[in-house]
Amino acid sequence: MSGFAADWLALREPADRRARDVGLMRRASDWLAAAGQGATVVDLGCGTGSTLSAFEACRDEGTPQVRWRLVDNDPALLDAAAERARNLGVDAETRLVDLAVIDDIPLEGARLVTASALFDLASRDFISGLAERIVASGAGLHAALSYDGSTSFRPDHPLDGIVVAGFNRHQLRPKGLGAGASLGPGAARALAGALQAQGYLVELADSPWRLGPQDAALSIAHVDGMATAVAELGVLDPAELEAWRRMRVDSADRSETLVGHLDLLALPG
Ligand SMILES: C[S@@+](CC[C@H](N)C(=O)[O-])C[C@H]1O[C@@H](n2cnc3c(N)ncnc32)[C@H](O)[C@@H]1O
Repeated sequence: MSGFAADWLALREPADRRARDVGLMRRASDWLAAAGQGATVVDLGCGTGSTLSAFEACRDEGTPQVRWRLVDNDPALLDAAAERARNLGVDAETRLVDLAVIDDIPLEGARLVTASALFDLASRDFISGLAERIVASGAGLHAALSYDGSTSFRPDHPLDGIVVAGFNRHQLRPKGLGAGASLGPGAARALAGALQAQGYLVELADSPWRLGPQDAALSIAHVDGMATAVAELGVLDPAELEAWRRMRVDSADRSETLVGHLDLLALPG
């Protein structure tokens, strides 16, 4: 069990789907299609298979079928991803792997490596080690939905700034993907730099969550997560933090929240 509950992944998936940059997904799909029938996509930290599902939704009729290799360290999430692939009629295998052991990441035969909501958990070591392995394999990389550190709310609250700053600091704590501190909001740009330095052509695109009243359940879960993280830092008086959380929860059905993410596409130059 990885700590990423299937119900949290299900709650965020509609907002993730809306946020993904369609242009980068289409270019990644074109790169796959150019390899012909049966090209392999390796999805790192696949969770319940949201990336497979998003790519299938933007696949044009008649384009070659691809083979998915779904990789995660959580067997329950892998089972859910395999079931989703079966339901979509997609050819997929699952691999139970700890991505932290970079040499064990099963990239053999990959045309494209994908990931979503993963690399902000990674350390600099992990990012540079993975970039090296991807370049050595010749695969492209599509990495969606890395948090970029920007979060804003409407209506605002006087503590928004300090809560977001605290949350971003908490994001830098080690998350087990590589040694030491996570890169958190800096991860997508670090990955872009590491791949560019090795000759890859890299594009970044904004892919923010735009949460409105219809996303109240996700907004509440997001705010609860932020408050829990900031409480662990001890930088705010607990009663003040709770007043911020309460205001955000009570106004979730009439608020707007923008949570910045970056999508990345990197292809061999
Ligand atoms: C935030 S979830 C994203 C899941 C999915 N990509 C999505 O967008 O819905 C992060 C995923 O990475 C997986 N993960 C985290 N650390 C991992 C590790 N060291 N090895 C393998 N998988 C890991 C988790 O189990 C989880 O499925």
